[in-house]
Amino acid sequence: MSRLEELRDRIDSREARIGVVGLGYVGLPLAVEFAKAGFRVTGLDIDEEKVRSLQDGVSYIGDVPSAELAAVRADDRFRATSDLSELTRLDVINICVPTPLTRTKDPDVSHMARAVEEIKRRLRSGQLVVLGSTTYPGTTHDLFVPMLEESGLSVGVDFSLAFSPERIDPANKRFKVREVPKVVGGETPLCTELAAKVFATIFDQVVPVSSSQSAEMVKLLENTFRAINIGLANEVALMCERLGLDVWEVIEAAATKPYGFMKFLPGPGLGGHCIPVDPSYLSWKMKSLNFPARFIDLATDINSRMPEHVADRVSDLLNQDRLALNGSSVLILGVAYKKDVGDMRESPALDVIRQLASKGAAISYHDPHIRECNVDGTIYKNTDLSDEALGAADLVVVLTDHSDVDYDRVVDKAHRVFDTRNATAGVSAHREKITKL
Ligand SMILES: NC(=O)c1ccc[n+]([C@@H]2O[C@H](COP(=O)([O-])OP(=O)(O)OC[C@H]3O[C@@H](n4cnc5c(N)ncnc54)[C@H](O)[C@@H]3O)[C@@H](O)[C@H]2O)c1
Repeated sequence: MSRLEELRDRIDSREARIGVVGLGYVGLPLAVEFAKAGFRVTGLDIDEEKVRSLQDGVSYIGDVPSAELAAVRADDRFRATSDLSELTRLDVINICVPTPLTRTKDPDVSHMARAVEEIKRRLRSGQLVVLGSTTYPGTTHDLFVPMLEESGLSVGVDFSLAFSPERIDPANKRFKVREVPKVVGGETPLCTELAAKVFATIFDQVVPVSSSQSAEMVKLLENTFRAINIGLANEVALMCERLGLDVWEVIEAAATKPYGFMKFLPGPGLGGHCIPVDPSYLSWKMKSLNFPARFIDLATDINSRMPEHVADRVSDLLNQDRLALNGSSVLILGVAYKKDVGDMRESPALDVIRQLASKGAAISYHDPHIRECNVDGTIYKNTDLSDEALGAADLVVVLTDHSDVDYDRVVDKAHRVFDTRNATAGVSAHREKITKL
């Protein structure tokens, strides 16, 4: 029996040692899930502070309660380390490191390349490597197979390699990790089989596809689909504004159709590590094949103009009250990129604040999940949402619709509210103070 075939038995018996490289929003929940399934899991991260926190049983990811982490720590099922020499001892290595864009908006695969380089230096026969970071089709096959084979070992013969996209949705309480099917595409049928086998221990359904390229494309299709449909919702919001219609009413009514329509909502712009970033991975790859990704370009154009549109509306609303943006006090409600998360990556709030502040507005913000935010070097600290703070602002602007905000009180105490998320839909008193996107 080959070392790769032996891995089958080690997965069945839970003796396989599982590793997760990159313990962020994606890697940490995955590592804890494997530990809960009975595996010994080693989490590796270059961030010493995160490692220390995890070793102490303290989680920094909202979807992983510290109690759950402490339980797998106490059972000795999970440990975190920054010592990459541990990679040698692992049978299965999942890579969950960031894949951002460079300043010129091109894919930045340097974090992945660095992780794969560390693995290559220690690669041994029988190991299975699974890439989970979102990336363009061909990354695993064209970039990482040659890199790992520099070790002298052959893919599908000595070691296995697969791509399996992450579908985690931070703060989504509706679906547990195991309920969201896991797509897997290996470099060879054996690679797919082994990766599918390991994921079947923590996911109810595994969906094998024919290649790593196909699995990479699945993820980009999913997120591009979202970005484009949000772009459509944003454009419909702009249309409704000119038509004097309430876009939220229109979308909610359209969403009552039980087939052929899927609800997407407008807002102040795209945010997070995925939706504003991932479509650019696909359009970059297609550009190299001389194929313009027109839908992506159009949606990017519409979505990226939304923060500027919001800033213009703020200026117009103040103007209606005979106030200039310069010198007015604007209280921003919610700066995280989406509801109920403490993540500001690519948040449109950064852009809105930047534009308002550059025109002289006095900005403050309240966000129950974010203690301070840095916009181009200016540090803003979270303001208490007191009646006084609400009353003192010339305009309150809702940019993120966090659940634990009392919107009745916000509308009651504020002079005027600009709501870009329809967070005030349930408020019945003083509706005359509310203007919606
Ligand atoms: N956040 C999401 O909702 C989400 C959902 C699906 C897919 N993804 C994808 O998953 C990947 C990871 O995203 P994330 O949000 O978890 O990122 P993150 O920034 O939260 O976590 C990444 C972690 O990797 C660590 N790291 C970076 N380089 C490393 C290296 N060379 N070796 C070891 N550790 C390293 C960082 O210190 C960090 O802790 C990205 O490709 C992203 O597009 C994210």
